[in-house]
Amino acid sequence: MAPDPRVQQIRDRALADIAAARSTADLEQIRIRVLGRSGELTARLRSLGAIPAAERPQVGQAANRAKAELEEQIQARLQALRVEERSRQREAGRVDLTLPGRVTPAGAVHPITRVQDEIIAIFEGLGFSVAEGPEVESDYYNFAALNFPDDHPARDMQDTFHLSPDTLLRTHTSPVQIRTMKAQPPPVRVICPGKVYRRDADITHSPMFHQVEGLAIDRNISMGDLRGTLDLFAREMFGSRSRIRFRPSFFPFTEPSAEVDVLCFLCGGGGCRVCKQDGWLEILGSGMVHPDVLRNVGYDPEEVMGWAFGMGVERVAMLKYGIDDIRLFFENDLRFLGQFAPLTLPPHPSLSPAGRGTRMRRR
Ligand code: PHE
Repeated sequence: MAPDPRVQQIRDRALADIAAARSTADLEQIRIRVLGRSGELTARLRSLGAIPAAERPQVGQAANRAKAELEEQIQARLQALRVEERSRQREAGRVDLTLPGRVTPAGAVHPITRVQDEIIAIFEGLGFSVAEGPEVESDYYNFAALNFPDDHPARDMQDTFHLSPDTLLRTHTSPVQIRTMKAQPPPVRVICPGKVYRRDADITHSPMFHQVEGLAIDRNISMGDLRGTLDLFAREMFGSRSRIRFRPSFFPFTEPSAEVDVLCFLCGGGGCRVCKQDGWLEILGSGMVHPDVLRNVGYDPEEVMGWAFGMGVERVAMLKYGIDDIRLFFENDLRFLGQFAPLTLPPHPSLSPAGRGTRMRRR
């Protein structure tokens, strides 16, 4: 027998609502509605005075029991909902470890810098050190000290960028060799990398390009040493099957002089499009330093001798990578430069090596 149908009704409805509550906020609503200051059960307790005295203790006890029971149920449900809410939040903020990562594009070393560094590393391994000098030079260091006669065509305004009759943008890095020899007694073993300038522009010539020149001065140094050094250089740069050959040539600052060719890397000497059916590719100029040049820097040609060579970095890079237009190096097209990016991941085994090696060509 229910001592108070009203209390019974409040209790039953509240218990059902507590069980159905979906959040701690729902639960708080229920608590306020039933047990709050003007809640249903609170109101019932307050109105005990209006009940006949005989029934009062029974109804009061029932209401107090219901109140204690509801408080307990609310607490229990609250605990359960908090646990649920926390795990729901954790689920929402979870990192999906199976999502593919965002790729940050990696920068790359410019092919010219890369090849220049490679050339330098090869000669450093042979005991050469790096010497640098100014790009704005005097006629004296760029030409006169190197034994160019006054009327030599290279001095011509058509070939050289003059800043004044006596100052110019260096046309090669040979002036660095003069500066080095003037600054130190022999022996000398230096390489001179840097930018040089000539009035020339087509698919194989750029008005600014890079050179690495080398110089070795000592007692009893011979053209055989030059040959051995360049032979080693070619193998390191173009692969162990690489060969070089010397062809007689002329430079005012070397005597004798030779142009050096490397066996075509593509056809191996048989003749192809890259070497224009010749089997050989010209890579540098060289020769024994002219006695007049040694005298100009205060060395005694009876005591010491030596050799020098000079190569264009763009040319070496074009040969090494099969690039057919020098302008690609200076257009900064990321599709071109990106081909020299260091691989951040090993290439997938299904990628064909041929596809990876294909370089962009100018249309
Ligand atoms: N200075 C020459 C050039 O720029 C290259 C060279 C250097 C040739 C040293 C012979 C010896 O073309």
